[in-house]
Amino acid sequence: MKRELLVMKNIDKSFPGVHALDHVNFDLRSGEVHALLGENGAGKSTLMKILTGVYQMDGGEIEVAGEPVTITNAGDAQKLGISIIYQEFNLFPHLSVAENLFIKREPRKYGKWILDGKKLHEQSEELLQRIQLNLDPARPVSSLSVAQQQMVEIAKALSLNAKIMIMDEPTSALTDHEIENLFSLILQLKKQNVGIVYISHRLEELSHIADRVTVLRDGKYVGTVNYSDTTTRELVSMMVGRELSEYFPQREHAYGAPILEVEGLSRKGAVNDVSFTLHEGEILGVSGLMGAGRTEMARLLFGADRKDGGTVTFKGEQIEISSPGDAIKRGIGYLTEDRKRDGLTLGLNVKDNITMASIKEYASMLGVMNEGKIEKATSEYVDQLSIKTPSLEQLLRNLSGGNQQKVILARWLCKGSKILIFDEPTRGIDVGAKQEIYELMNSLVKEGHSIIMISSELPEVLGMSDRILVMHEGRVAGILDGPSATEESIMYLATGGK
Ligand SMILES: Nc1ncnc2c1ncn2[C@@H]1O[C@H](COP(=O)(O)OP(=O)(O)OP(=O)(O)O)[C@@H](O)[C@H]1O
Ligand SMILES: [Mg+2]
Repeated sequence: MKRELLVMKNIDKSFPGVHALDHVNFDLRSGEVHALLGENGAGKSTLMKILTGVYQMDGGEIEVAGEPVTITNAGDAQKLGISIIYQEFNLFPHLSVAENLFIKREPRKYGKWILDGKKLHEQSEELLQRIQLNLDPARPVSSLSVAQQQMVEIAKALSLNAKIMIMDEPTSALTDHEIENLFSLILQLKKQNVGIVYISHRLEELSHIADRVTVLRDGKYVGTVNYSDTTTRELVSMMVGRELSEYFPQREHAYGAPILEVEGLSRKGAVNDVSFTLHEGEILGVSGLMGAGRTEMARLLFGADRKDGGTVTFKGEQIEISSPGDAIKRGIGYLTEDRKRDGLTLGLNVKDNITMASIKEYASMLGVMNEGKIEKATSEYVDQLSIKTPSLEQLLRNLSGGNQQKVILARWLCKGSKILIFDEPTRGIDVGAKQEIYELMNSLVKEGHSIIMISSELPEVLGMSDRILVMHEGRVAGILDGPSATEESIMYLATGGK
């Protein structure tokens, strides 16, 4: 019988207008992976932020190793051996790996006066060895990949003697290979009796690591099950409160005339001689391995980066897109892959985020904003996309990840974009909302919009695309017919097969 490392009982938390957690229970045993599931906004991150002292609970009890505890700040959590590996990283990019690992507790010599650089290096190497990470501790964190930064975070947690480790969507920005590495590290941590809370929207991942699963829905505790006693279907219906029918919408695969013709698009070191045609009412899937140049290609089309060569023809007329402004004027919208960095203005509210690309359309000739019109338009999008927010004035930073994604989508729809570039449109989005986004994409193309959908999820590419452009090392490896393509035919091209 494994000991309960952690018990959370009747946890209650409200934000203005949102009952984020309604008497939620959760417990964790040493050496287990306990997955925490739920749709966007279900309260997963909030529960974990209470455990790590970011938020204070309104009611409830927490016990760690059988003792009641109070956690009022990050320091309390750390002392109790609780560490969180954040969705957004907490490392200092300009400092080295070693400095990050031992920040504020660097080894010192000559009393406390001088930093002991040699010792810092040695201790860091030892720590990195513990998780079998081959990395020079002297490297600045800014030079690391996302996966490496995450490993450094985990190493840091271990060095703080973490007994309880929380991973909030840890795989959302990792390649398949990196995910495998993370999973083997997780299995190792289990052997060291660390208890892991694992939050993810990718249910298939659970089969590799999960022991138990707890599901939240709309801030309420739905239940806890042993992973081996359940099915994905059951978990999904616990999450959404109903059985999900056919996952992808029935697509007609009927598209019209060319709207965008791309010829020889290039940018040194990233995109090489890319040519393709996008049609009216078409979903063109773009597949490829991480680093194949998909996002780089999208950024060229959107004018976010300068191309070195190539032409773009819009409805038969050659156009020059040298800035996002040019692209937006032509009715091209871009939902970025890295929502936090490029797309979202987290400090602005929902309304401003939705209208920011089209704000001129809401002003009178004298420049006065028509607030009523803004209100009406934005609340329509909030309804249509089921964006969960207590009001249009809510700051974006306070929405859950998936709902933030929907807000950007609303921005481009509101702008009336004819061509939408979706870069990883359902990353971090729960199953129910995913289905809604697929339905939405389908109705958008039926209305004559055209979509370029970059996605690393093969089922999504296969389920949605009329045609599939596969990239490999910056080039077009091939264009497949959507309905007849298979995972194998895509992977063959994506890995450089001829
Ligand atoms: N600081 C805050 N202020 C106001 N509301 C908040 C705040 N933090 C979270 N919320 C709200 O609490 C609810 C739960 O959010 P939470 O981030 O915990 O969801 P989640 O389950 O982690 O979702 P996701 O899967 O999208 O990450 C949401 O309705 C969210 O908008
Ligand atoms: Mg979350």
